[in-house]
Amino acid sequence: MASSLLNGAEYAGLMRRVSPKGLGFGGSGLGGKNLNLRRLALVSPARIGVVKRAVPRCSVSASRPASQPRFIQHKKEAFWFYRFLSIVYDHIINPGHWTEDMRDDALEPADLYDRNMVVVDVGGGTGFTTLGIVKHVDAKNVTILDQSPHQLAKARQKEPLKECKIIEGDAEDLPFKTDYADRYISAGSIEYWPDPQRGIREAYRVLKLGGKACLIGPVYPTFWLSRFFADAWMLFPKEEEYIEWFEKAGFKDIQLKRIGPKWYRGVRRHGLIMGCSVTGVKPASGDSPLQLGPKAEDVSKPVNPFVFLLRFLLGAMAATYYVLVPIYMWLKDQIVPKGRPI
Ligand SMILES: C[S@@+](CC[C@H](N)C(=O)[O-])C[C@H]1O[C@@H](n2cnc3c(N)ncnc32)[C@H](O)[C@@H]1O
Repeated sequence: MASSLLNGAEYAGLMRRVSPKGLGFGGSGLGGKNLNLRRLALVSPARIGVVKRAVPRCSVSASRPASQPRFIQHKKEAFWFYRFLSIVYDHIINPGHWTEDMRDDALEPADLYDRNMVVVDVGGGTGFTTLGIVKHVDAKNVTILDQSPHQLAKARQKEPLKECKIIEGDAEDLPFKTDYADRYISAGSIEYWPDPQRGIREAYRVLKLGGKACLIGPVYPTFWLSRFFADAWMLFPKEEEYIEWFEKAGFKDIQLKRIGPKWYRGVRRHGLIMGCSVTGVKPASGDSPLQLGPKAEDVSKPVNPFVFLLRFLLGAMAATYYVLVPIYMWLKDQIVPKGRPI
């Protein structure tokens, strides 16, 4: 599996090495214009090795701001999307985008070293990531939260998760008290949150002093066609956006670890649905220093059913492209001799 860990300073090192045209291996389209590099320190020589192999490969353009939701970036659309996807989720999404070794790699920075830790898995879905968590933490200490009862029904069927608490809820408005958990984990869910900053602020709030958030999510493509479908489907944040959201929420010791399916050989130009694992530590007890206004989306408000259906169908069609990408990359991996870039 292709993975590399970047702390803040590696970001600085990386940005010094990146041509304005962006990155190939290890890159996810860092334009760098708006990067907040103030807190970036220390570069690990071993990791610079990864960065040095970076070659410009395709152009970078600015992604649409996170505040402009895509077709499936509303809670209602995500609800219906998973009403159907939950039937095949474990059979389609995991082999193509989120394998067991990727999951274990992504969870490693979460530092799950004690079986008694209190852990919340937000957007836990069918419990695939939770299966990785309960290898390290007793299931009775783990809560799986998701807005989709259909996804959660699949999690309930999994024997190792029998003792987990399983609840319906919204990532942007968590039903946990402030300073509740030792670890906040969320894998592959942020892309459906209409207001990602609000979800990350909630991560901060529910953690105890010294607790760690580990958020695993997509990275933005640099190849034009992939960008088109990514933008139509859901939120594919840029790496620097994750770091900025974590910083604004109040987290310290923020690190970003790049992950990806091993048959991609490190290619990130098509974006990745599970492309990075971002961690941050809560430095003080209590609520986040970040104050936000009311929630952007009121799910109780009626929506025009035709507009809803159109958005849903267009979003689902765009998502199909991302079923094909891992197959295309797998074929390339089979055809192109090992050791050569694909
Ligand atoms: C790609 S799945 C990831 C599931 C699981 N974490 C995994 O690793 O396989 C995304 C999940 O996020 C959930 N989700 C989307 N928006 C949410 C929200 N606002 N609050 C809670 N869960 C949400 C979806 O219902 C879905 O189960």
